[in-house]
Amino acid sequence: MTDIPVIDVKELSHTYLSGTPLEVRSLDKVNMKVFINEIVGIIGPSGSGKSTLLQHLNGLLVPQNGDLYINGTSISELSSRIREVRQSIGLVFQNPEKQLFEHYAGDDVAFGPRNMGLTREEIRKRVRAAMETVGLPFAYKDRLTAELSLGEKRRLALAGVLAMEPRVLVLDEPTSSLDPEGRSELLDILSRWKMGTGKALVIASHNMEDIAELSNRVYVLVEGRVVASGSAKEVFAGHDILARHGLSAPLPAQIILELVKQGLPVSPDVLTEDETVEEIRSLLNAGK
Ligand SMILES: Nc1ncnc2c1ncn2[C@@H]1O[C@H](COP(=O)(O)OP(=O)(O)OP(=O)(O)O)[C@@H](O)[C@H]1O
Ligand SMILES: [Mg+2]
Repeated sequence: MTDIPVIDVKELSHTYLSGTPLEVRSLDKVNMKVFINEIVGIIGPSGSGKSTLLQHLNGLLVPQNGDLYINGTSISELSSRIREVRQSIGLVFQNPEKQLFEHYAGDDVAFGPRNMGLTREEIRKRVRAAMETVGLPFAYKDRLTAELSLGEKRRLALAGVLAMEPRVLVLDEPTSSLDPEGRSELLDILSRWKMGTGKALVIASHNMEDIAELSNRVYVLVEGRVVASGSAKEVFAGHDILARHGLSAPLPAQIILELVKQGLPVSPDVLTEDETVEEIRSLLNAGK
């Protein structure tokens, strides 16, 4: 980690439809930092402001109150370089498959790189590499976008953002409506992408298991406010705070908590499915 966060959100507030009867305060003095080489998870119930926050990160929404710094520079000073910001902080929208618009799959992936004014050769290279990263054969570039499955479309949309070679990848509910196999494929792709050094990942989800599997640090958003933050282990150990806001800890953490309550010798700070299986395995072995 370097000292300067790649993204630094300070006291950020946002109100939709201000001054109308439908006014909604969707962000309320939010503070959040993202450092290079980490995965930051944002959890919160539906309507808590996750998508609104994410849309600020690459300049899609402009701060009404508070500020946002990219590598130490206020976004208000970057308005003439907003294309560059959008390229270096790649945002994959919630349900991105609904925003694919090109007839052929390859053209959707090439859209961003073409806008960057790269050579044909470079564009082709990037499309191939991005498709490979998300596990789509290069030959799929000639497929009709409309004929791909939901999981394939989701990965195609991700490839379109990866082809711009962002430093920070921001994903809004990446696994929603995917089946368990599609979900685990996607989580694998994301952890593999992050293995490349010098990058960061921000993931918003109301799926605790996704966040627990991937994140180093977690922010909990409720009604536009950060109600808890810290390492994934710290945040998920706060069962009471989560429960108070209608959220539950990831299933593996709940199982472990139950075993701890029963007085069984398991480590209380276990988070992921694999770690839980390991704990239960040693418990069974010890009992032999
Ligand atoms: N374009 C908009 N116009 C008016 N209100 C909006 C708009 N977008 C979001 N809101 C409202 O702002 C609040 C925060 O919404 P947001 O979509 O950021 O939450 P979220 O945490 O992403 O929810 P979800 O989990 O359902 O995706 C909600 O009350 C929502 O109804
Ligand atoms: Mg959302």
